[in-house]
Amino acid sequence: MSDIATAGDSAGTFPIPSGVFAETVNSVRHYTDRLFAFRMSRPASFRFRSGEFVMIGLPNAERPVFRAYSIASPSWDEELEFYSIKVPDGPLTEHLQKVQPGDTILMRKKPVGTLVHDALLGGERLYLFSTGTGIAPFASIIRDPETYERFAQVILIHTCRDAAELDYGHDLVAATRADPLVGEEATAQLVHYACTTREETERMGRITTLIGSGKLFDDLTVPPLNPETDRAMICGSMAMLKDVKTICEEAGLIEGSNSKPGQFVVERAFVD
Ligand code: A2P
Repeated sequence: MSDIATAGDSAGTFPIPSGVFAETVNSVRHYTDRLFAFRMSRPASFRFRSGEFVMIGLPNAERPVFRAYSIASPSWDEELEFYSIKVPDGPLTEHLQKVQPGDTILMRKKPVGTLVHDALLGGERLYLFSTGTGIAPFASIIRDPETYERFAQVILIHTCRDAAELDYGHDLVAATRADPLVGEEATAQLVHYACTTREETERMGRITTLIGSGKLFDDLTVPPLNPETDRAMICGSMAMLKDVKTICEEAGLIEGSNSKPGQFVVERAFVD
């Protein structure tokens, strides 16, 4: 779309700022009263690495509010998917949660992020530690063929407050195992480890507790974290990042970045 295009909602019509893409919502799914996902058109010129994030906004003000969102779809997908929390009175999410197919979403042009293969050394086993909407970048990573080329085993860990909040992850893993591109690899190599902290389910506890007690490794029948073989990506709240990062460092893993790949990488789930 050109820079002189306009779009708006009931709040009015505003010019699209220059230097941003204006894309169209194709579908929206509400998972719980706190969580929703939407898919939108992808600009033909937009390239990103699986696991990166972009700045998203709405054309509902002269100076729209932008927030960082991990892209939850793989880099080969024709559409872009995002998975979001609904924050009451959140400057962006209070409006974003109301989007409908056909609405316009603004997206800044440059994707960035550290939850990318380039920032991780190769290894045997890749742990993807997430809480809440922190699973979003891993929705991209687990549908990327490179993930299965680089790691023999990929362990997607998702902790949420209650069972309904795990639905996005269950649907994601089922779709990935049925995917024509990576389904065979995902069926053989991807393990999904989901747990709740506030609702009684068959697997309960914070991941930090389950690592500390050794239950995670017992359940998976794998040895404890080992810098020789294991790599990790971490995405969740600030507190969760700090705690899981400490666990990785205590196990001897070294943090990586785009310029210096390492044994684990960290990114917060931005919107709160
Ligand atoms: P808890 O219910 O014990 O707070 P939220 O929805 O608030 O973002 O939390 C998502 C999940 O992350 C919840 O299950 C929550 O557990 C868990 N969590 C919160 N803080 C930490 C932490 N420091 N380490 C591990 N898990 C955490």
